[in-house]
Amino acid sequence: MSLTHFPTGSRSSTALTTLPKVTMPALAEMKRQGKPIAALTAYDYASARIVDEAGIDLVLVGDSLAMVVLGYENTLPVTVDEMLHHTRAVRRGVSRALVVADMPFGSYHASLAEAVANAARFLKEGGAEAVKVEGPRTELVRALTAAEIPVVGHLGLTPQSVHRMGGYRVQARTVEAARRLKGDARALAAAGAGALVLEGIPREAAEAITAELDIPTIGIGAGPGCDGQILVFHDLLGLTFAPAARFVRRYADAGALIRSAVEHYREDVEHRAFPSDAESYHLPGAARRNLRMEFDESEAIVNRDAVEEWEEFTHS
Ligand code: KIV
Repeated sequence: MSLTHFPTGSRSSTALTTLPKVTMPALAEMKRQGKPIAALTAYDYASARIVDEAGIDLVLVGDSLAMVVLGYENTLPVTVDEMLHHTRAVRRGVSRALVVADMPFGSYHASLAEAVANAARFLKEGGAEAVKVEGPRTELVRALTAAEIPVVGHLGLTPQSVHRMGGYRVQARTVEAARRLKGDARALAAAGAGALVLEGIPREAAEAITAELDIPTIGIGAGPGCDGQILVFHDLLGLTFAPAARFVRRYADAGALIRSAVEHYREDVEHRAFPSDAESYHLPGAARRNLRMEFDESEAIVNRDAVEEWEEFTHS
């Protein structure tokens, strides 16, 4: 067991604790007020907590974790149980943001009944407040909404369709395709979707859809005209290993920072420069003296004060 821990109580950023909890209706209100929605993915407790404390409005437990956390080539292999595992961790780290869980590939494609049952697990077991599904699945969105499961839609470049699309390609590049996309977006909103992710589409198409819908659009590679923006946590921080897509803005090179810290640690261990005396625990004075008497147990026990001092120390 590690003696290092994250305190689970109060947040470091007191200003943010006074901000109201973000809910699904609050996102719609933000759109009405013209307030941009800042969204980001997170996949574990520490990153979720940092993202929440930084004031992000919507935290998506994206199935992109298949690639950036689990090292798969695409998002298809990740399972419901794996997504739930990460959703629970994120839930524990977030107090203000809306937590949305991605439904993984295969978990909502067979039947509406199975899709609703899987989605319900994300709310019941994962603590998510909404689920996200890819594609123009209006029947599914209607069924989830009827089951009191808030839904975020996802149109445009939908990574779970990588094989059908023949790669990760910008979608809706013709007027006709953009019109179709707008129709799909309208249908999802009418079916009950509470927000819509627009990925990898021309900004003009995203702007037209955003202007048309009452529900907020959240863009990724869809230009600045959406009601909000989302990025993958690892992309924003430079923690991915492939060249970044055009729409990614790297706000930090955490990969370089972490690599340098780890190399420094390794060197310190190799040179016996870590840990220092100040980073070591010490026996209290009397016990130390007893130990110096060549660990003579009988002598140590005779010294009651030292034993009590030691026990108090180890239990503090
Ligand atoms: O899985 C994911 O991370 C996503 C977004 C980036 C929209 O779907």
